[in-house]
Amino acid sequence: MDKRKQLRKQIRSLRRSLTPSQQNTAAQALLRNMRTRQDFRRAKSIAMYLPNDGEIDPTPLIKLCWKLGKEVYLPVLHPILHNRLWFVPYTQKTPMVRNIYSIREPKLEPGRRKAAWALDLVLLPLVAFDPKGNRMGMGGGYYDRTFAFKGLKKGMRGPDLIGLAHEIQRVEELPVEGWDIPLTTIVTDAKSYP
Ligand SMILES: Nc1ncnc2c1ncn2[C@@H]1O[C@H](COP(=O)(O)OP(=O)(O)OP(=O)(O)O)[C@@H](O)[C@H]1O
Ligand SMILES: [Mg+2]
Repeated sequence: MDKRKQLRKQIRSLRRSLTPSQQNTAAQALLRNMRTRQDFRRAKSIAMYLPNDGEIDPTPLIKLCWKLGKEVYLPVLHPILHNRLWFVPYTQKTPMVRNIYSIREPKLEPGRRKAAWALDLVLLPLVAFDPKGNRMGMGGGYYDRTFAFKGLKKGMRGPDLIGLAHEIQRVEELPVEGWDIPLTTIVTDAKSYP
């Protein structure tokens, strides 16, 4: 197994080993670290995710957004384009289905999606990160493909990408590939990077 795959496996198992009570404490700490941020307070449309595989839980943050009248979006696997994400509004009333990874996602209804570049802010999960903003995901290249437009053209900056993680997912330095899209910031239960 190559180094990248081995690291992914190791950190995935580490985050899965967190107890429900540790997960709950981390989710509350994440809420505290996110809610006062300028970028979060300014954003009107924010993409988040439902936790899976031991990922840090942004649900308290989703509820805060609903309370503040912000629009919450969840990623949905693109039905045709390989390994790409669509973003669909998520409210308490949204009908949900399970995707091919058994992750709950909003049922796709025509005309309800938002383009990735039109979001104000994207909070995304990750497997590992380093303090420079490099990200390793689950290995599908979904976020990398979806946000590949960032940095390609001038004026196509797109939304800031904030990686959410447990502090235990930090490594000193990640091996980066040419297609990896760097994160603007990483926010954990302990602090923000850089
Ligand atoms: N913009 C792109 N165009 C085409 N292929 C891509 C692109 N970005 C990534 N890939 C492919 O996706 C595969 C997985 O990439 P990588 O290992 O970086 O996934 P990841 O960042 O861990 O996953 P994810 O983004 O879903 O969290 C790689 O084999 C890579 O070739
Ligand atoms: Mg990648």
